[in-house]
Amino acid sequence: MADKHEQTVDPHTGTATTGHEWDGIAELNTPLPRWWLWTFYACIIWSFGYWVAYPTWPLVSGYTKGLLGYSERTNVTEALQAVRDSQAKLNEAIVKDSFADIKANPQLLNFALAGGKVAFGDNCAACHGRGAQGSPGFANLNDDNWIWGGTFDQILQTVRYGIRSDHPETRISQMPAFGVDGLLTPSQISDTAEFVRSLSKLPHDNAAAERGKAVFQGDGACATCHGDDGKGNQEVGAPNLTANIWLYGETREAIANQITTGHGGVMPAWSGRLDPATIKKLAIYVHSLGGGQ
Ligand code: HEC
Ligand code: HEC
Repeated sequence: MADKHEQTVDPHTGTATTGHEWDGIAELNTPLPRWWLWTFYACIIWSFGYWVAYPTWPLVSGYTKGLLGYSERTNVTEALQAVRDSQAKLNEAIVKDSFADIKANPQLLNFALAGGKVAFGDNCAACHGRGAQGSPGFANLNDDNWIWGGTFDQILQTVRYGIRSDHPETRISQMPAFGVDGLLTPSQISDTAEFVRSLSKLPHDNAAAERGKAVFQGDGACATCHGDDGKGNQEVGAPNLTANIWLYGETREAIANQITTGHGGVMPAWSGRLDPATIKKLAIYVHSLGGGQ
């Protein structure tokens, strides 16, 4: 191996050699292309500028902030604040505007429905079910059959003050416990239950139902609240007994049990627990679930 340090020009390429040569193979001295070098230098200069302008170096506590004061976190905070501000405006409009105005404003209505749905999942689903389908004792809010009324204002009042709740303005009523308090005999109760079933066109014993009808329409008995025709009365939260939609169930046992005990379901008041905008959004959402009276 020869190791001569003689710089010559390579006859084939015309490029100078470095003078390193091994067994007749010489190393060409090809410089880096100019454009590449300048780009490289430019990058170095750019990086210094970047260090100064932007947050870059970690410090013991925190990091260098950079002269521009740029921060992803500030950006996110500002973006969140912007969303909050626009939500605050929408919430204000929800509280201030009438139901008719909200319904006529698609942006506001969608905002109310979306917010109502979330609040329903958080506060109401435990009792009424995720899909507001209800369960025995807990009203189904999807149908257009309302115990206390299905207009927007009636729903709003129910949600605000509750039913048999601890709020002074609560909706309140109580079906007597006809069995427990000995107002009716067990046979009168089973007869009346037969009549109640006949109101919803469920299979029933005709003779018993006839006897039950007399009890139902008798003085101070059922018709006072449920009406002679059994269609109910929203003023006193007496369910319609003719729709075959049941709060407590349609079996003979369930109906006889209702007449015996009177029940009296409790729905909490939300006024004071939820802000007025949320309560109104809930009422709008629930109204949209039923037929929308
Ligand atoms: C602790 C259980 C419970 C919770 C939580 C609850 N409800 Fe109720 N809700 C009831 C019961 C029980 C009834 C039926 C009361 C009755 O027997 O008349 C009812 C009835 C209603 C009614 C009246 C239905 C009708 O046919 O008139 C509406 C509207 C309603 N709830 C909406 C809501 C909304 C909205 C929320 C959430 C903010 C909510 N409820 C949370 C138990 C609950
Ligand atoms: C003072 C008013 C009042 C009187 C009188 C009354 N009810 Fe009721 N009734 C109600 C109320 C209020 C409810 C709802 C109870 C609840 O929400 O827990 C109800 C519920 C019922 C239900 C349950 C309906 C369902 O959807 O599950 C039946 C059945 C019923 N009543 C039958 C009768 C019969 C039969 C009589 C007479 C023997 C009677 N009621 C008398 C107020 C009354």
